[in-house]
Amino acid sequence: MERIALVTGGTRGLGLAIAEALREAGCRVAATYHHDEAGARRMAQETGIAVYRWDVADAAASRDGVARVGAELGPVDILVNNAGITADAMFHKMSEEQWWRVMHTNLGSMFNVTRQVIEGMRERRFGRIVNISSVNGRKGQAGQCNYAAAKAGILGFTKALALENAARSVTVNAVAPGYCDTAMVAEVRPELLQAIVAAIPVGRLGAPADIGRMVAFLAGKDAGFITGATFDVNGGQYLA
Ligand code: CAA
Repeated sequence: MERIALVTGGTRGLGLAIAEALREAGCRVAATYHHDEAGARRMAQETGIAVYRWDVADAAASRDGVARVGAELGPVDILVNNAGITADAMFHKMSEEQWWRVMHTNLGSMFNVTRQVIEGMRERRFGRIVNISSVNGRKGQAGQCNYAAAKAGILGFTKALALENAARSVTVNAVAPGYCDTAMVAEVRPELLQAIVAAIPVGRLGAPADIGRMVAFLAGKDAGFITGATFDVNGGQYLA
């Protein structure tokens, strides 16, 4: 049976790898993006994945967007809340705007998008929700009080939602990626990034596909007994 999967921020970086892994697992995939229209169109052409533009920080836009996906592809069976941004600064230099921009996009989106699909999943007695957290939500990172707070908030959201929906065969899990080879991580100052990579026990950045495989497993039919859990995919960084 072909499942419909929605991946927010799914046209590049980790989201693209997740969307591709779900497609390879046999899903019909929709990927959202916010800004890069040309990049998203190119990706859609190359992969055959349907793309939808909306801002996941905007509740009304998310309602309209998920309705469009539903009308064109069908009701969403698998939701991957992946869209996220950084606005790094030491907290004593952080602006209110940097704080809320990250909160609205990274944590507000959990409500905005998930709220649109949860009732249907409950009614159909099947759903897979995978929320993308971060190693920095698990262990903290100087310069990321906003991001770490939002990514840790995702873990509480995941556990509460898992409890509410377990009896309806809707599972809710979190994946906490470490530093991966993406544009987001490439923004970190080179000497700082070098020090971070040196502290990763496996000695390299993660590949986006490392995260894609984890998410595809959790989204699959064989993962029905796994809910409310967080999966660290970070090359051992959390231990170091
Ligand atoms: N721990 C403690 N103090 C630190 C620190 C650290 N790791 N890094 C910097 N500081 C201190 C400095 O010593 C300095 O202190 P003094 O003013 O007393 O001398 C002060 O903070 C300012 O340091 P900078 O000059 O470096 O400050 P800046 O304003 O130029 O830069 C920053 C701050 C932008 C946050 C920079 O440190 C930075 O880019 N950090 C990287 C944050 C990071 O890892 N982001 C991850 C992005 S990728 C991602 O998020 C994906 C994912 O999920 C893994």
